[in-house]
Amino acid sequence: MRAHELRSAWDRFFEGRGHTLVPSAGLIPHHPSAPMFTNSGMMPFVSYFLGEEAVPYDPPRAASIQKCVRAGGKHNDLDAIGRSTRHLSFFEMAGNFSFGDYFKAEMIPWAWEFTTSSIESGGLGVDGDRIWATVHTTDDEAEQIWADVVGLPRERIQRLDADNFWEMGETGPCGPSSELFFDFGPDFGADGGPAHGSEWRYIEFWNLVFTQYFRGADGELSDLPNKNVDTGLGFERTLALTEGSSSLYDADVISELVGAAQEVTGHRLGRSDLGDIALRLLADHTRSTAFLIADGVIPSNEDRGYVLRRIMRRAVRFAYLLDVSHAVLAPMIQRCSAVMGDAYPDLVSNSELILGVAEREEGQFRKTLAKGSALLDGELDDLSDGDTLPGSVAFKLHDTFGFPLEVTEEMAQLRGHEVDHQGFDTEMAEQRARAKAASRGTGVEVGDEADAYRRMITEGGPTEFVGRETPSAEATVLGVVGDWVVLDSTPFYAESGGQVGDTGSLSWPGGGARVIDTTNALPGLIRHRLVAGADTPAVASRVTAEIDNDRRDAIRRNHTATHLLHWALRQVLGDHVKQQGSLVDDARLRFDFSHFQAITPDELRRIEDLVNGVVLTGASVSHDEMTRAAADERGAIAFFGDKYGDDVRVLEAGPSVELCGGTHVSALGQIGAVKVVSEASIGSNIRRLEATTGLNTVERLRSDEAMLGELATELGTSVDELLGSVRKRNDENRALRAEVAQLRSEGARARAMALTDLAVDGVIVARVEAETRDEVRDQALALRDRPGIRAVALGAVPGGKGVTLVVATQPDGPLHAGDLMAPAARAISGGGGKGADLAMAGGKNADGLDEALELLRVAFETA
Ligand code: ALA
Repeated sequence: MRAHELRSAWDRFFEGRGHTLVPSAGLIPHHPSAPMFTNSGMMPFVSYFLGEEAVPYDPPRAASIQKCVRAGGKHNDLDAIGRSTRHLSFFEMAGNFSFGDYFKAEMIPWAWEFTTSSIESGGLGVDGDRIWATVHTTDDEAEQIWADVVGLPRERIQRLDADNFWEMGETGPCGPSSELFFDFGPDFGADGGPAHGSEWRYIEFWNLVFTQYFRGADGELSDLPNKNVDTGLGFERTLALTEGSSSLYDADVISELVGAAQEVTGHRLGRSDLGDIALRLLADHTRSTAFLIADGVIPSNEDRGYVLRRIMRRAVRFAYLLDVSHAVLAPMIQRCSAVMGDAYPDLVSNSELILGVAEREEGQFRKTLAKGSALLDGELDDLSDGDTLPGSVAFKLHDTFGFPLEVTEEMAQLRGHEVDHQGFDTEMAEQRARAKAASRGTGVEVGDEADAYRRMITEGGPTEFVGRETPSAEATVLGVVGDWVVLDSTPFYAESGGQVGDTGSLSWPGGGARVIDTTNALPGLIRHRLVAGADTPAVASRVTAEIDNDRRDAIRRNHTATHLLHWALRQVLGDHVKQQGSLVDDARLRFDFSHFQAITPDELRRIEDLVNGVVLTGASVSHDEMTRAAADERGAIAFFGDKYGDDVRVLEAGPSVELCGGTHVSALGQIGAVKVVSEASIGSNIRRLEATTGLNTVERLRSDEAMLGELATELGTSVDELLGSVRKRNDENRALRAEVAQLRSEGARARAMALTDLAVDGVIVARVEAETRDEVRDQALALRDRPGIRAVALGAVPGGKGVTLVVATQPDGPLHAGDLMAPAARAISGGGGKGADLAMAGGKNADGLDEALELLRVAFETA
């Protein structure tokens, strides 16, 4: 079966059973309980499972084919890839979902029907006699449906415990599952079914999860509001299975990418184990790379960026192992876009960004790789025969240079050395513990508070946001949790999409309180934070909610200006510019985006001119709600952090058309003057701009003006004359400095001449005063050139810091300055020149100066 055939069979089967087909969401999940990457088909739907948001599908069923990455966190397959033919870091998962609608009785027979009915009649055409099912140890109901409704022989139904309980991550929805396995037959290993037989023979390809629990941050399970279904059919596994292969790398698409890896590297499959591993790994890792960058991840040393960097570097390292010295990422990524661009047009539209990032990362890493190999060679040189390479070295190579243990091992073995595994494991375990400790502390609200909010949203919520229409409104209190108050409707904007929450006040008969922040307690449930210790309104009472409207106006200006800036950046710098983060408050806007070098002053000026030009048109701004499809039709750009699948709001501000749920000005002229106030790098390939709008720009002008005024007063001139006056002062300063230096050196020379009288047998040895090393040298040379002087040795502590020794002798004379200096230099713990007629030494030990001069005196006497 080809990939496009499976896509359409899946869609047709579930569409025919009342499911809304939902396009794949991005790889960066939204829900606070979600792990680092979208790792399964259910993740975009978490808030529907949790009852936090109303399900927008009627009936409440959906089906999708979701792109997934499993590399990091609970479901991490990264290390197995290449070596195992059954793992991929990027894969697709076909899933169907019931949100409190159908359950086991419908799902199990459907799974059977789709799997076993013929390809012509819309199924996978798999031989039912080869199918085994597992159910959770407690799940009598699922077993009974398999046996009595489907008619699967009882001996092909087995019960498993932890293996049949699926969880999204450390926290989140979970529940017992039932899995479908395909039996590849006795050639692939021992019988006994999935529970007892060989894992190479019985391959799981579809997981049906009966999602009815939530695992909280405290580890406890609680019931979800509904009984749900979440299934995941491994897309590549199923394709491979229909080809009669248990290797994912025989599936359509990925097999083409393995073919591409052969062409790009010039290596053939089947020649060596290492070569096969490398080819598979290249196919897989470059695909993950392309998709992750398309979704806005940029390689870095943190979080997702770090995982991406590991994936990219691993691919490059395996190419390097195959002695492939040309770049591999970009050509592989191009092939991946060619093969998958139909299903995922994002790959094609972002190809400039993806290729740019890939080329840069590979270029940099190839240099590191060369250094890592050199380091390893150096360490191996230091070992004696039979020595073991320390675990700490192997770990450093792994951690800093991306060398996996096996590679270090391979390279060490070539030179007859083993690697200390235990030492390596210890360091690795310590690092894991550190990483784990660092990843705690995120996740959803714990315990009672989360329950309280969940109750509020079910009973009275979600909160209606009326703050686009009015700054003040009457509302009913849904609940109070600590300092936080939840209302049924509110003009307060809850912090999201980079825009800060509103401030303002709540008032009620006989009372009132300041609101200092507003956030979402759950998606759609808005909570207002009262200043600590304030009176709180009674639950179910009416309050008047009023925002600080001037502050909101300033925020609005900054938010709409952020969109214009984004547009202008893409105009001037190129379409590789992608939002990486933003912060919009009342003082300024901050915008992080992908770009590879500093913005030049000329580019910056063009960007500002474009933005201000659009502002000056004063055109009106529209901000309408529409379906995702309508938004796509208008060409709205969306970035990660935006949600797919539901109704969206599209902001059209001049030439910028973008998805956005924030608050905005109604006409561009309201923004006022936009001025970029800073531009800097905040990580590899990521830049940050800060800008002001409206009154903040005026305020900035004023404070610059005031500063200029103060400077002028300080310099005793007017602002108009300021520049001329500063230049004149600098010239004067330079002249004065030269004069001082001249005077000082004349003084030193005069003092030095007085030393001539100290000469003994034509040799002067003395301690002198000087401001700089050069002064000491000048004195020594001046003295040496006096009649009758054979040699001079001077010592000083120039400027009170460090010690300087100078020995000057007659050029072409018998005395060698450098040789005479050597013992004395040691006395000041220093080192220095070895010239024949002029040697200078610098050291730290000022206490040794007298001894050094004494040594020089002795040296001259014996020379
Ligand atoms: N969410 C389930 C899985 O990923 C279906 O296996």
